[in-house]
Amino acid sequence: MCGIVGYIGHRDAYPIILNGLQRLEYRGYDSAGIALYDGTDIKLSKTKGKVSDLKSKLENEISTEGTLGIGHTRWATHGVPNDVNSHPHYSNSGDLVIIHNGIIENYESLKKELTKRGYTFKSDTDTEVLINLIEDVKKNDDTKLGKAVQVALNQVVGAYAIAVFDKTKPNEIVVARLGSPLAIGIGEDEFFIASDASPFIEYTKNAIYLEDGEMAIVRRHKDIKVRKIKGDAIVDPYVQELKLNLEQIEKGGYEHFMLKEIYEQPSAILDTFRGRLLSKEAIIKMSGVEDNMKKFLNADRIIIVACGTSWHAGLVAEYIFEDLARIPVEVEYASEFRYRNPVITEKDMVIAISQSGETADTLAAIKLAKSKGAFVFGVCNVVGSSIARETDAGAYTHAGPEIGVASTKAFTTQITVLTLMALRLARAKGTISSSDFRMHLLELEMIPQKVEEALKSDSYVQTIADIYKDSKNFLYLGRGYNFPVALEGALKLKEISYIHAEGYPAAEMKHGPIALIDEQMPVVVIATKKGHYDKVVSNIQEIKARKGKIIGIVTKGDESVKALADFVIEVPETLESLSPLLTTIPLQLLSYYIAVYLGKNVDQPRNLAKSVTVE
Ligand code: G6P
Repeated sequence: MCGIVGYIGHRDAYPIILNGLQRLEYRGYDSAGIALYDGTDIKLSKTKGKVSDLKSKLENEISTEGTLGIGHTRWATHGVPNDVNSHPHYSNSGDLVIIHNGIIENYESLKKELTKRGYTFKSDTDTEVLINLIEDVKKNDDTKLGKAVQVALNQVVGAYAIAVFDKTKPNEIVVARLGSPLAIGIGEDEFFIASDASPFIEYTKNAIYLEDGEMAIVRRHKDIKVRKIKGDAIVDPYVQELKLNLEQIEKGGYEHFMLKEIYEQPSAILDTFRGRLLSKEAIIKMSGVEDNMKKFLNADRIIIVACGTSWHAGLVAEYIFEDLARIPVEVEYASEFRYRNPVITEKDMVIAISQSGETADTLAAIKLAKSKGAFVFGVCNVVGSSIARETDAGAYTHAGPEIGVASTKAFTTQITVLTLMALRLARAKGTISSSDFRMHLLELEMIPQKVEEALKSDSYVQTIADIYKDSKNFLYLGRGYNFPVALEGALKLKEISYIHAEGYPAAEMKHGPIALIDEQMPVVVIATKKGHYDKVVSNIQEIKARKGKIIGIVTKGDESVKALADFVIEVPETLESLSPLLTTIPLQLLSYYIAVYLGKNVDQPRNLAKSVTVE
């Protein structure tokens, strides 16, 4: 995880790096640091805490001059978050300095070797080992920094995006990537380095995304040289035009990114449809599906791999693919799938779902599936991400940047893409009639407007949040399509308010969780009109009989649940298969307001990170 930023050019590097780190804090925020070359020496300041803590410390500690620098915001892997373990790290001579996102798995054996050769280490990090390895190679082979980085990386096992510079040759930054993202922004006689393009979008629209196994030497007043880390091949880099704009990555008047992103869902879902859902012509156009239609139709089954919220979107997809397209689906945690020797054949179609497109376990699951001959289709939000590139075909969600660590619009847009896919396949297979297909398209088209309506429950949800904010536990129940929504609702609450919450299939409650119910226990029950409504109402009766507090998520106009529940939150009526797109909304708002009332850091909850690039 971690975010890295670098700059070399004619401007002051400090504000660019500081601002860039702030934009990358979604990747980790337990410590931060910056190293600047001021014309004669490296000035370095780092601290435990957030980028804002670094700013106050750094400005008292060092001069902020210099047109070359690197910075880091950390999510600790090796070594607790403290000042010493924060990046950047110096080499023993003090000439070289490094920032690193990733893990060096063989760092202990490398450290032993370097210790024997007289190197000492201040921190517990794998990164300090790497910079000293680079220094050792540079010294022994008497080579330039680029070559030394290449030789050192060939001895390393693990994942990395790194940036290194040498104060004795302050005209270049050497960068490399394997398993962690790295973008290079190309300005006028200046270069930007970052984990994604957000730190430099106001300066340039041109960027190179390094591929895994590539490194680059970024030189002041010169071009960038890209090469393979293994072997001698030189790479002709592809310069991509960025579509991102500044407005998309700012809060736009909202108190938190999470709230902004919750409210962006109507337009995000519309963007997901754009050019794909053509209701007048009654067609769905998705080139990734169209081009591989035969493979989809001949597949014995679909295996969905994902983590976290994306896994929940996969669970919703299981219902919709099986229901509409009659294709058997299995949904797997990528982290389990990759290590359990799964049976995969060439007749399997794997769908990998990931907002960031960088989740290490999902990437590893994809590689495993590909090695067994399966075709892998990606559903990602971040354009050009590792998963988008690693998969055989795919469909982007087009949700725009999601910055709040707790995923919201990524979830609903993932479900939207997967619904479009299921409908397209159902049509091709003939498992849905043309009138049913048409009806689904029309209903789907109404979803943005209905999400808008669901968002109107905002102030009422605030009231409920205030009443239940001090509860120690929450139970979330749902059935069928809304069982994954119950899981997602519980996850949202845990993530940002640190209240223990469990999601359960409503009918399973009596096999365990019912024992937890007493007058202290709020139970959020998704009880929309379609989808086993009567059975869910019976489950609500069971909760009521045990004095649980009931918050019902119901279809507009519902009276039966209202009569039983302590509170009901209404969502507009829609097809059962589309209901998760609406029932999710009040659950997102509920967790958001509880976290706000409890004074938690909503956008940057403790111990979490948005993009989990380590196993
Ligand atoms: C982290 C994030 C979650 C996200 C999960 C999977 O845990 O905090 O919000 O759902 O990773 O991430 P992905 O980018 O693969 O969807």
